[in-house]
Amino acid sequence: MTVRAKELLEGAEVIAYPVRKLGEEGTALEIVKGAVDVSGKEVVELLFSMNPDDEVRRRCRAENIERMCAMLDEGKDIAMITLGDVAVYSTYMYLDREIRNRGYETEVVPGIPSFCHGAARARLPLMIGEESLAVLSMAKHNLDKVERAVDCMDNIVIMKAFASIREIAVMMERRGIPLSNATVMSNIGMEDEYVGPLDADREYGYFTTVLIKKKVE
Ligand SMILES: C[S@@+](CC[C@H](N)C(=O)[O-])C[C@H]1O[C@@H](n2cnc3c(N)ncnc32)[C@H](O)[C@@H]1O
Repeated sequence: MTVRAKELLEGAEVIAYPVRKLGEEGTALEIVKGAVDVSGKEVVELLFSMNPDDEVRRRCRAENIERMCAMLDEGKDIAMITLGDVAVYSTYMYLDREIRNRGYETEVVPGIPSFCHGAARARLPLMIGEESLAVLSMAKHNLDKVERAVDCMDNIVIMKAFASIREIAVMMERRGIPLSNATVMSNIGMEDEYVGPLDADREYGYFTTVLIKKKVE
């Protein structure tokens, strides 16, 4: 978390945090609690459904926008938190556009993307010299896109990789890239953090990112 993020969180009356299911422990909120005293603040859970139906997800976002605008109309400053960096696969960006369009003032504060944190933990460069990097999601098992990235780029970060580990291993084998060129970065910054080789037979949780480096020094 940056100094600016801490400053804004300390000054806000409301802290809004995203959850995938109502009542679940918000990972972003737990991280914030380690740095900011949230007692005395209104802490609001916002549901961002992971339902595959686009319409369900869109409805969830619309409800969150209405709730946030109602709080802003009451004169409350809201700090909406998100995991990692807000520009990397974060739903908040949809909300920001709409809330600004309605005439409210917003500020987007950068964070540390999980793949940067993971690469630091693994002591690996994401790119060095003239190397390139592609960042992709595998939530929809879109292996085609990943294969094209692997063919064109020097380094590939695969996010939302938890359910695609075997597909990634098979794809690497097919392309003659040794499995040892892949590093799994899972639950980075958490108690059960794992940084290590890709094991196709192991189960990894939702917070799993894979880094493939075609050239290993
Ligand atoms: C909705 S995206 C959020 C990305 C986030 N904004 C970022 O900057 O990393 C969720 C995906 O980010 C990655 N991720 C988020 N937190 C992580 C962590 N602590 N360790 C490893 N990967 C993580 C995983 O690939 C996960 O499936």
